[in-house]
Amino acid sequence: MGHDVESVAEKQRARGLIVAIDGPAGVGKSTVAKLLASRLGYLYLDTGALYRATAWAVIESGLDPADAKGVEALLPTLSLHMQFHQGVATVFVSGRDVSGDLRTPEVSAAASVISAISAVRAWLLPIQRQIGQGGSMVAEGRDMGTTVFPSADVKFFLEADPTIRAQRRHRELVTAGHSGALEETSADLTSRDTRDRSRSIAPLAPAEDARFIDTSTLSIAEVVDQMMAVVAAKL
Ligand code: DC
Repeated sequence: MGHDVESVAEKQRARGLIVAIDGPAGVGKSTVAKLLASRLGYLYLDTGALYRATAWAVIESGLDPADAKGVEALLPTLSLHMQFHQGVATVFVSGRDVSGDLRTPEVSAAASVISAISAVRAWLLPIQRQIGQGGSMVAEGRDMGTTVFPSADVKFFLEADPTIRAQRRHRELVTAGHSGALEETSADLTSRDTRDRSRSIAPLAPAEDARFIDTSTLSIAEVVDQMMAVVAAKL
């Protein structure tokens, strides 16, 4: 398998595929997207981090994330920048490294709220496309296959049982040093999901040509292997 994967990676780098991965929170998107990108020697783009960084700026400025007009007025005053180094992205808001501040429950909730504001999505669209212009990228989010990279070479839509997603997200938060009950994480996830799926612009939805993977009972390695097989067939 080892040398097969290597030669697959080499050919794909030459062709510069874009792999789009969408799905709800806690489904394992980030973990598998990161691993897939590293196996392929591709860039890993976490678009949620861009929404989170914008949400961080909204909170920092004292605005209510639900204040669409206020948030829209804030956007032109911000500069958002993602720097990649050996597969790790650092996110800067107006020159300040905010990478370590993006995973708190407060930022998560605010990111979901501001992501329903059309001005925010329109503002982040060219930023995402610009990062993806060179291809050779695994991009992860909610609307990669439908809106940001509609002509992506491969599209995946990940799903998993809501209880399992809540357990995974809770474990992640605890590992990162945040406290809080599983029930709280579960409730947060449910309300975020409902908002993400029901918003009018670019809602969380599978592209018509997306491949579904239910990750409920699969290991991370199994998911990545399934994806790798699909990507390899695109050569
Ligand atoms: O993937 P994440 O949990 O880091 O995303 C944070 C929020 O950003 C999520 O609730 C929805 C929003 N988001 C989005 O609307 N579109 C994307 N492509 C990525 C994230």
